[in-house]
Amino acid sequence: MKVVVSVGGSVLVPAVESERVAAYASVLERLDAAGHELGVVVGGGPTAREYIETARELGANEIELDQLGVAATRMNARLLIAALDDRAAPTPPDDHETAREALRRGDIPIMGGTVAGHTTDAVGTALAEYVDADLLIYATSVPGVYDADPQTTPEATKFDQMTPGELVDVVVDIEMEAGSNAPVDLLAAKLLQRSGLQAAVIDGTDPEAVARAVDGTHDGTDIARRD
Ligand code: UTP
Repeated sequence: MKVVVSVGGSVLVPAVESERVAAYASVLERLDAAGHELGVVVGGGPTAREYIETARELGANEIELDQLGVAATRMNARLLIAALDDRAAPTPPDDHETAREALRRGDIPIMGGTVAGHTTDAVGTALAEYVDADLLIYATSVPGVYDADPQTTPEATKFDQMTPGELVDVVVDIEMEAGSNAPVDLLAAKLLQRSGLQAAVIDGTDPEAVARAVDGTHDGTDIARRD
């Protein structure tokens, strides 16, 4: 199966230490050894946030802040590359073409962000579409997609499955509330809706959940068109 995994930075590198990254590398190596083709996009997490907040205080503009965010995602990607040793392409690809070439060579491309103005979930969604992935996994810090933000709405319920259009509607509603965090950002949800990809939103704080998503036994949210 061809699988693209978009891993949140706060999931892969909640703090700059090796344990979580090593656990992710071990799951990816297992999937690779089982014959799956893999592409990964890594988010910025707390490292990106700290740099962005500091640079904002120093007067950086939004594009400069995004550039710092991209740099942080690529540092996080390099941690995973270090853990995967020679199974990973040695440099985080700058664009989707380079990532696709790595996949064709049989390497695992580990991307970070690409250009200012979007997010790694969007980069991952575009990569999945570009390489015609069978499955796109969003490894997030929440157990799946809820009908409201579970942090502010305790009675929110989780979807076991939904269509990409329903995901867009939920994300729009959540993003309207200041300070709330959607499990997948709106741009990624719109790209997903356009692509028709099969996707899953899972709690990636347990790296084994990625293997369960590939097996189809995860307990997050499946996203697919209803034909
Ligand atoms: P992320 O996509 O990782 O956002 O990029 P995030 O909300 O911090 O996600 P988690 O915490 O990793 O799950 C971090 C920042 O990098 C910039 C944006 O500023 C984003 O907020 N970025 C990222 C870009 O400008 N372009 C990209 O392609 C990716």
